[in-house]
Amino acid sequence: MSDKTVVEDTDASEAQIEVHWKEEGKIPPSPAFVAQANMTDTGIYERFSLDNFPDCFKEYADLLTWDQGWETTLDTSDAPCWKWFVGGKLNACFNCVDRHLDRYKNKAALIYVPEPEDEAHSVITYQELYVRVNEFAALLRDFAGLKAGDRVTLHMPMVPELPVTMLACARLGIIHSEVFGGFSGQACGERIADSGSSVLITTDAYHRGGKLIDHKANADIACEVSEKAGQAVDKVLVWQRYPGKSSSPTPMVEGRDFIVNDVLKDHAGQRVEPVPMPAEAPLFLMYTSGTTGQPKGCEHSTGGYLAYAAGTSKYVQDIHPEDVYWCMADIGWITGHSYIVYGPLALAASSVIFEGVPTYPDAGRAWRIAERLDVNIFHTAPTTIRMLRKAGPDEPKKYDYHFKHMTTVGEPIEPLVWQWYYDVVGKGEAVIVDTYWQTETGGFLCSTLPALQSMKPGSAGPAVPGIHPVIYDEDGNEIPPGSGVAGNICIRNPWPGGFQTIWGDRERYVETYYAKYCKDKNSKDWRDWPYLTGDGAMEAEDGYFRILGRIDDVINVAGHRLGTKELESASLTVDEVAEAAVVPVVDEIKGRVPDLYVSLKPGADGGEAVQKKIVARIETEIGKIARPKHVYIVPDMPKTRSGKIMRRVLAAISNTMDIGDVTTLANPDVVEEIRVLVQGKDKLAAKEGPEDLKTFGEEG
Ligand code: WTA
Repeated sequence: MSDKTVVEDTDASEAQIEVHWKEEGKIPPSPAFVAQANMTDTGIYERFSLDNFPDCFKEYADLLTWDQGWETTLDTSDAPCWKWFVGGKLNACFNCVDRHLDRYKNKAALIYVPEPEDEAHSVITYQELYVRVNEFAALLRDFAGLKAGDRVTLHMPMVPELPVTMLACARLGIIHSEVFGGFSGQACGERIADSGSSVLITTDAYHRGGKLIDHKANADIACEVSEKAGQAVDKVLVWQRYPGKSSSPTPMVEGRDFIVNDVLKDHAGQRVEPVPMPAEAPLFLMYTSGTTGQPKGCEHSTGGYLAYAAGTSKYVQDIHPEDVYWCMADIGWITGHSYIVYGPLALAASSVIFEGVPTYPDAGRAWRIAERLDVNIFHTAPTTIRMLRKAGPDEPKKYDYHFKHMTTVGEPIEPLVWQWYYDVVGKGEAVIVDTYWQTETGGFLCSTLPALQSMKPGSAGPAVPGIHPVIYDEDGNEIPPGSGVAGNICIRNPWPGGFQTIWGDRERYVETYYAKYCKDKNSKDWRDWPYLTGDGAMEAEDGYFRILGRIDDVINVAGHRLGTKELESASLTVDEVAEAAVVPVVDEIKGRVPDLYVSLKPGADGGEAVQKKIVARIETEIGKIARPKHVYIVPDMPKTRSGKIMRRVLAAISNTMDIGDVTTLANPDVVEEIRVLVQGKDKLAAKEGPEDLKTFGEEG
């Protein structure tokens, strides 16, 4: 870090912190950034203090246009299922589209950049978005027979039809459940069944990494899987990547599959009144991986969610209508929902959607897009930053773009990588916000407010206004800031962006997120219900939080959550496999990737064939993103005397960390056998691994 940029040295006491990542100096925002920022008033923290809770969130709700004002800001009567702005009515689509027409109808709402570079980008103005959303809403209502409260599953890649579809659903109060386009047909089918959707909306094909991928094939598998699980899909609506032309060899199923562009002709020019929805009506479901069992459908509300997405987009992302904002996440994840679609569009931003891989066809691609569109706010994840840095460390310098603001999200970022992001991508001009949050939380939990606080590489920053974190130890004692001790980060209070429940499984919602530290299960007082994030963290004396990683059996691969149990169950469906254990292993680019250990049934033939079979099974059941780095076939799993697989030992072996004491295991000898299999004959020097791997899979 260059000296001139370091303004504050860290306190001596903090420098003594017993962690393996030293405290970094802080860098202030530039005066030019501060001069134009949306939030420069330090009073915001006072306004959002617990003394002013929950009414403080009116400030965010007032960014929206309401059809009817709310009576109760926070209803806790069904604790811990919090309801915000009860009595209020609004429409999310109206807020993201219609209300901007007066001032911005001819301004870009979405700028779509196809992956093939010889295909020009296209601009969808707010007026054009309005027209497309209305026509598609008419189709959903009159052709697909959908109405408010129905669920519909979307399995769409990065195409502008995805936000059009989401907004058309929102216009009618239909609950959309978008499944990340890279997930397999089977994963999609399971989510269709869980959400009870009778309509699937998809795309025939999309470009990725130089290939035109047949996506329609996934729809057929999804329908089959869903039907088997008891949920029939009546209609599959297929958008075409090139309207009027089929780009998929997979045939259409007569009577079930319909090409959207054909059906839309019947709805040309139609307008659909936005339906005023109760603030607490679900806007969408977003499935995410949990510790055990099936992925959980996080249910997000209309009023609270949109208010929170808009407020944080305005003050943390610093979005103005004049900005060109590019978030490189996929809309199929929560980041895309909150910070490509809902937040930015609620603020009348111009939001860039890029179809492809940022390093394809070469390491300059992302920067050419930035230069061409004059992007000034850039939003991506550490895994992408690492990839861009590896592919072309000097590429950004060749292009004439200037960011004022950059975001990192999804995993901890190493200070070294942060510094490259700051110096090279941001050219030393842009502020960086490191935003910590989750699918469940709807919007940011921790981040600096970029004009108000200095940046600290590797730290997510303080809690954002209105979020009041606390770090507990295993026994529920509070760990004081600056003590250098890590613990479980929880949020003391509800906030409007928080999900309302797990779709169809309230018990699991309470159990997973509240049971651990709940002070009184019968209480209707939010103070008794701290929210458990599932992350380990430590708070420095200056109130900045450093997130250390998951405390549960979830692996964060390239910023995406994978449940180890999902991978293990997929492996167990292979005939030869008797036992399976998945552990995270450190990866230079993706942060963490899964390593898979399997033991085979007696007499089963283990060899490359079985390894390939397991990988293929994981790809069909979950998707390519879950592909393990290695599949190790071991003679037996290290086990406790009660028969539990010791994943901690396997994680230590995969990461060449200290294996610790294994003498109390039922089969200590197998540990050395596995070590030799993974690391080779010579004992490698044990490394200091990251905090989250030290306790991974530890059984209580
Ligand atoms: C991790 C993504 C460190 C964390 C928005 C969390 C982070 C999980 C950060 C949620 C960050 C997210 N620094 N770790 N800035 N942001 N995480 O649901 O472990 O896909 O629990 O939401 O990512 O992942 P999810």
